[in-house]
Amino acid sequence: MLELLQDMSLEEKIYQLVQMPGECFEQGILTGPAAEMGIPQEKIYQAGSCLTVIGAKTLREIQDKAMAAQPHHIPMLFMCDIINGYRTVYPVPLAQGCTFDPDLVRDCAKMAAAESAASGVHVTFSPMADLVRDARWGRVMESTGEDPYLNGLMAKAMVEGYQGDDLQEKGRIAACVKHFAGYGAPTAGRDYNTVELSERTLYEDYLPAYKAALDAKCALVMTSFNTLNRIPSSGNKALMRDLLRDEWGFDGVVISDWAAIYEMLPHGIAANGEEAARLAIEAGVDIDMVTSIYSKNLYELAADGRIPMALVDEAVLRVLELKNKLGLFEHPYKDASEDDENALLLCDAHRAVAGQCASESFVLLKNDEGILPLSREKKIALIGPYVNSRLITGSWSFFSKDEDNRTIHEVLQEQYGDCFATATGCELLEAGRKLTGFSMDYLNEETEEEAKEKLDKAVALAREAEVVVLFLGEPKDFTGEGASRADITIPALQKNLLRSVAAVNPNVVTVLFNGRPLDLREESALSKAILDVWFPGTEGARAILDMLFGVTAPSGKLSMSFPFCVGQVPVFYNEFSTGRPFFGDYREGRFFSKYIDIPNEPLYPFGYGLTYTSFSYSDVTVSKPVLSIAGEDSLTATVTLTNTGSREGTEVVQLYIRDLAGSVVRPVRELKDFTRVTLAAGEARDVTFTITPSMLQFYDIDMEFTAEPGEFMLFVGGDSRTQNAAAFTLVV
Ligand code: BGC
Repeated sequence: MLELLQDMSLEEKIYQLVQMPGECFEQGILTGPAAEMGIPQEKIYQAGSCLTVIGAKTLREIQDKAMAAQPHHIPMLFMCDIINGYRTVYPVPLAQGCTFDPDLVRDCAKMAAAESAASGVHVTFSPMADLVRDARWGRVMESTGEDPYLNGLMAKAMVEGYQGDDLQEKGRIAACVKHFAGYGAPTAGRDYNTVELSERTLYEDYLPAYKAALDAKCALVMTSFNTLNRIPSSGNKALMRDLLRDEWGFDGVVISDWAAIYEMLPHGIAANGEEAARLAIEAGVDIDMVTSIYSKNLYELAADGRIPMALVDEAVLRVLELKNKLGLFEHPYKDASEDDENALLLCDAHRAVAGQCASESFVLLKNDEGILPLSREKKIALIGPYVNSRLITGSWSFFSKDEDNRTIHEVLQEQYGDCFATATGCELLEAGRKLTGFSMDYLNEETEEEAKEKLDKAVALAREAEVVVLFLGEPKDFTGEGASRADITIPALQKNLLRSVAAVNPNVVTVLFNGRPLDLREESALSKAILDVWFPGTEGARAILDMLFGVTAPSGKLSMSFPFCVGQVPVFYNEFSTGRPFFGDYREGRFFSKYIDIPNEPLYPFGYGLTYTSFSYSDVTVSKPVLSIAGEDSLTATVTLTNTGSREGTEVVQLYIRDLAGSVVRPVRELKDFTRVTLAAGEARDVTFTITPSMLQFYDIDMEFTAEPGEFMLFVGGDSRTQNAAAFTLVV
């Protein structure tokens, strides 16, 4: 690669650092943002990479033109957002987090890679390893949740699934972990907003999942849009070079987020394009995503010696190395093949995993009187705007086709014929309210009379039924990029449907579609059961009906806390104890850390989820009371888990640890391990976790990552509130 680099002109080198928007290749002309880039038409094929063009045939053609136009016939990199699937869509990442099943998540990523590779994709902008605590932020859906450890496992699994051991292997694509760093903590949950994190919070909570992706050899890193402690990431040398490259040893490609280098101008850290380019290249950002900041400014900066030529060279070398790792110099089309597209896209194997992942991601939040699973003998009405909706794949699934997603109604017909009555009841969104979506705009144009007729029909059905299942939720464009919400409830007209149905029938089961934790106070009060199905993907409808009718059983656990109401946000389980803590009679007293109008606890906590059977936990026991920092010491914590119900079930057994006193205040508990256990009715099994001193490390008063001797508590149970505890001491 070095030889090639040395033979390239400066202009050629700089074009390797430019990413063109896909439209300009598809349309053959520069329009919109591409035109604004001011890149001459004859140069667009010299760009090092392009964004969001897909299809084996199209990409082979673009590659031919690129290699013909490029003086050294260097192949182009094709990058895309393959987030939760390609044509086959898996549940959104937040839902995947709820599976607590990294192996399954790895499988989903592997299949998404195989499909998109067949369509010519080389790089996906996934995993998103941003820790999320604020349900108002629309992009919580793209994260696997609020826990650093769980996120790290999921990010690792995704990287392994996309990349395998060798990027040249058929069906493998390069992964890009994003958005480095701290994008998941925008002030007040408003997208792109300022992020202020203490060094300790950044290191302890926010960085581990990115690091886990890099330890799994993730090939690329994407910068984040936000400022982190007043510095935009794309120009943050301390973050992108000192930490990422020098401390962590990352030698792969860093790409800016969409126009993020340019955005240093409105951020007010660069006075002009030249300054933005200099800041970014000095920070070690290799590729400028879809703006002309690099193409217009790097040449002069390097030619005049205002930046060392070595900065350009090292960035270009990293891009060339990535192309080489993917084998593009020998196989410029890589796996792009129309035959493989035909064979793989939406194939049975991928659909099966999509169905399994959907099923494992569903979280049963409530199930009074064991109303679920439904008995087929009962008179059941299935009502709600999601009964006939195909919009169940979530944001970022624009390579799928809505017609691939069967509706609840269609699957119901297929499996049960006309046994059950259905009705829409209302639209997803109020009449007249326009929602500007990611890929489409949504506008409900029905009249008041039409709306009333729909509602009346549903209420009449509900009155007649023994059980009503309501399919409600956020429209998919209420979540995702640019979709922050201050009111995290379902739309008012759906609430009205719920109230109207509950008024005539007490046996309501709510099936909830959502991309974020919602304020579910009313749904919880008016429903006997709530099954959260998120945005479940291509096989969602079947997975939902199978679960409702008990063919499968829920096993998902929340990867993010559901607040009592929006005023509690951000609320998360691994918080710190205050000096005025949550126990005792805090509710009565005034001077405690509490709200005077709502509880401190979330409505449904992290790690929580029910199933159709019940489990009992024995007291947790430890193998010995003292653990030594020295040597390879470890101790074990064991519980006996018993399935006390009458059907098989799966429980995610969780281990949390608390360091009782440290040189800095420690979280009230932290997830350290978990395991999924399936037990037959009546079966009991011992579940054992091993605890080593390395699991007790944290950033101490001197920012050293270390474990401090002292007293610890461990907790083993079915959610983050478990009080099933044992103590141990860590000694030197
Ligand atoms: C998003 C990224 C995404 C990129 C490319 C940006 O708007 O923040 O997550 O990968 O666009 O589509």
